[in-house]
Amino acid sequence: QKNVGILAMEIYFPPTCIQQEVLEAHDGASKGKYTIGLGQDCMGFCTEVEDVISMSLTAVNSLLEKYAVDPKQVGRLEVGSETVIDKSKSIKTFLMQIFEKCGNSDIEGVDSTNACYGGTAALFNCVNWVESSSWDGRYGLVVCTDSAVYAEGPARPTGGAAAVAMLIGPDAPIVFESKIRASHMAHVYDFYKPILDSEYPVVDGKLSQTCYLMALDACYKSVCNKYEKLESKQFSIADAAYFVFHSPYNKLVQKSFARLLFNDFLRNACSIDESAKEKLAPFLSLSGDESYQSRDLEKTSQQVAKPFYDEKVQPTTLIPKQVGNMYTASLYAAFASLLHNKHNTLAGQRVMLFSYGSGSTATMFSLKLNEGQHPFSLSNIASAMNVAEKLKSRHELAPEKFVEIMQLMEHRYGAKDFVTSKDCSLLAPGTYYLTEVDSKYRRFYAKK
Ligand code: ACO
Repeated sequence: QKNVGILAMEIYFPPTCIQQEVLEAHDGASKGKYTIGLGQDCMGFCTEVEDVISMSLTAVNSLLEKYAVDPKQVGRLEVGSETVIDKSKSIKTFLMQIFEKCGNSDIEGVDSTNACYGGTAALFNCVNWVESSSWDGRYGLVVCTDSAVYAEGPARPTGGAAAVAMLIGPDAPIVFESKIRASHMAHVYDFYKPILDSEYPVVDGKLSQTCYLMALDACYKSVCNKYEKLESKQFSIADAAYFVFHSPYNKLVQKSFARLLFNDFLRNACSIDESAKEKLAPFLSLSGDESYQSRDLEKTSQQVAKPFYDEKVQPTTLIPKQVGNMYTASLYAAFASLLHNKHNTLAGQRVMLFSYGSGSTATMFSLKLNEGQHPFSLSNIASAMNVAEKLKSRHELAPEKFVEIMQLMEHRYGAKDFVTSKDCSLLAPGTYYLTEVDSKYRRFYAKK
């Protein structure tokens, strides 16, 4: 099969959110810590009527409707998520309700889980399936869905929630350049969820930042080596129009891109001009470990990278800054932001993506874009996702209300025998919502 990739996309995030500026004041953090320090504008979150299952039901149903895809035409469905609900029963099985109704139960695939990386694993599985001899000619469908919530404390403003659905097949407008891809996988305890009666992770924030940057360096080095073997020329940030990062919060994305530039400097790549060389020269002698600790290097490389960041990264940051860390959906929400902002000029361009999941697992991979054919065209994907309208129609809740909802959700996590308020007044028509968890922990949903 030729040009296998993403044919269509849909994104859903909750209509409920809190401004980071407001949360910052409420938490007693210094002014600017969440907005400038973390680089975040707003944070989306689920109320008691929404969860990862309802969000993914909404995203899948909406994708099938908007692109007029017959549910019988889906042959593989993969979900990436790290939000634990039924442990052994996959989120994928809940989504089967949409397909069973149409008489299609012949759909391979289950859930993939490893922190924020599961969505990428699911995506690769679907692409590989379409490219393989097992392919039966039908579409693959990938869903990345998470509700990122943290205990009170410094990590809380880095939450978020969303579901992204992606249709996979041949002759796509968003094609995988599978040769330009590298992974870095290691055993680290930076973020994990060993406490099974809580939705909150155990997280070592500082360690997770360093692990992220180390994985980024390793993947980038390996991508450069592979590209150079393949093309017999050097790879640098000049060889891709855009860089899309997994976005726990925007500041880490700024640091990550600066790190790529520093890598280019160390490799003496053509993307680095004389003035940049001069500014970065003092850091040439730092050991790898020292380079992760150096505040001066961080600041200088971010400063040198700024004009390139504005051009190659900024257009990817809209949804992650507005919604927060969506875990598995975060990278694809950043990519959706790029399609939203630049769909007119993306044809012919290469876009590099970096996926990171704590624990840790990471891959950098390349996509090549073309306009495609309606309904699977870049411009139609942008208009179907309707990002501006979705962001505009959100409701900002007060911090007291947010805290109250977090407390209710803590109480409800793993609980049975309750009905929700069924208050779906804030939800858009067509949104699925949770109505009840019965005495056997079975969950029930309705559609507005
Ligand atoms: N104005 C402007 N900037 C400020 C202010 C202020 N008033 N106050 C602090 N800052 C800056 C800091 O200088 C720092 O920026 P810098 O790193 O560029 O120096 C930034 O704000 C954050 O401040 P810290 O003191 O480092 O924040 P803290 O340690 O309280 O928490 C952290 C940040 C560790 C990211 C926390 O939110 C966390 O643990 N999040 C979850 C883990 C995470 O997301 N890890 C990322 C990879 S793994 C994953 O995806 C889950």
